[in-house]
Amino acid sequence: MLKPEDNERLVRVGPGKPAGKLLRRYWQPALLSEELPENDCPPVRVRLLCEDLVAFRDTEGRIGLVDAYCPHRRAALFFGRNEECGLRCVYHGWKFNVDGDCVDMPNEPSDTPMKARVKILGYPTIERGGVVWTYMGPREHMPEPPDFEWTRAPATHRLVSKTVEECNYLQAMEGGLDTSHASFAHNNHLGSKNTLRNADTAPRSEVELTDYGYRYISTRNAGEGRCYVRVYHYVMPNQQMRGAFTPLLTNLNGDDPYVMPKSDGHLWVPIDDEHTMVYNWACSSDQSVPLSPEFRDRWETWAGRGANDLIPGTYRLKRNRSNDYLIDRKIQKTQTFTGITGINTQDYALQEGMGPIVDRSKEHLGSSDKAIVILRRVMLEAIRAVERGEMPPGLAPESHRYIRPYDGVIASGTRWQESFAKELVAKW
Ligand code: FES
Ligand SMILES: [Fe+2]
Repeated sequence: MLKPEDNERLVRVGPGKPAGKLLRRYWQPALLSEELPENDCPPVRVRLLCEDLVAFRDTEGRIGLVDAYCPHRRAALFFGRNEECGLRCVYHGWKFNVDGDCVDMPNEPSDTPMKARVKILGYPTIERGGVVWTYMGPREHMPEPPDFEWTRAPATHRLVSKTVEECNYLQAMEGGLDTSHASFAHNNHLGSKNTLRNADTAPRSEVELTDYGYRYISTRNAGEGRCYVRVYHYVMPNQQMRGAFTPLLTNLNGDDPYVMPKSDGHLWVPIDDEHTMVYNWACSSDQSVPLSPEFRDRWETWAGRGANDLIPGTYRLKRNRSNDYLIDRKIQKTQTFTGITGINTQDYALQEGMGPIVDRSKEHLGSSDKAIVILRRVMLEAIRAVERGEMPPGLAPESHRYIRPYDGVIASGTRWQESFAKELVAKW
């Protein structure tokens, strides 16, 4: 359980709020590169950390991320014309470049001093790994750009997507960091004890604090003197990386998406206090094996967000809160634990089902919740560090540049640290 005042400090993300200030000290995903597919393409609405913004790619390919409303009389710049290195408001023609400078004010005398004075709020952007990242904190504290194995991997070996989740970022992230739920919520083979995560539903977990957040390890008995060990990373402040190298199933042919040795993960980026944009990534660990179109389709469909699972023209799932995720009670009785199709759709049902902001004062946490308890502690401490005027942890790319998650089956009694040593280092 958590004191209500600590819960409030963790979940509110607007400007000036404790967690809002912390999250703004890191580069955050603002949108996918594919949403701005070419120079001078239509602008895109972005809501991020309770702020309404608009993104555009200018004639030179640079990306602007500026206030959604024109500083003249607040018309929506989403309707603007993206032309000749700037976004022009269609109400009275004021035009802004990617830095937020007003470069044209055609409804005022040509010598107006106002043009030099007016600036629109804008944030710096950078493209890495198919994602447009932005930094919304104090400029003097801007860290180096994000740098992870998956952002360095070429587009052929990396997959990135995003989906909207209708709840606060923290409960979504806690759901991602939770280890034991995989044996229940994601049990899509009722009656089979043959999958690595179903054979042992009470994994032991270890958490090791690091400079970038923490590394945590779950260990399950895998029978015949072996155990299944999965190494995860929590990277400050809102990213998780998981090893997905080992096939989950030993006798269920055909539907195991873990055929590809890879790492995968999520970033839970607050849209506002009650909505989250979940960025999903996966990265082949083998430089000779790109992620094929078939694999991409299969992986995303397995997760519940394939091309046919999204409401067209949006990043929202067709199976959503408004239709109870199309839960099938018959399938729930006979085939899968939840009766809901799509691994991450199952997560959304459970996380959104708590309400937009869960009341953590009513919880009863057990030993399997260790990673979640430590997450809250690390976040609260980082919030306090920012309030004291100190730098929060994990800003320096050196702390996380070469980390990699991993999972594998080893003989019981063997140390995973040694067995996995080579694989835990980024190859890209
Ligand atoms: S409101 Fe944008 S130019 Fe007037
Ligand atoms: Fe899950």
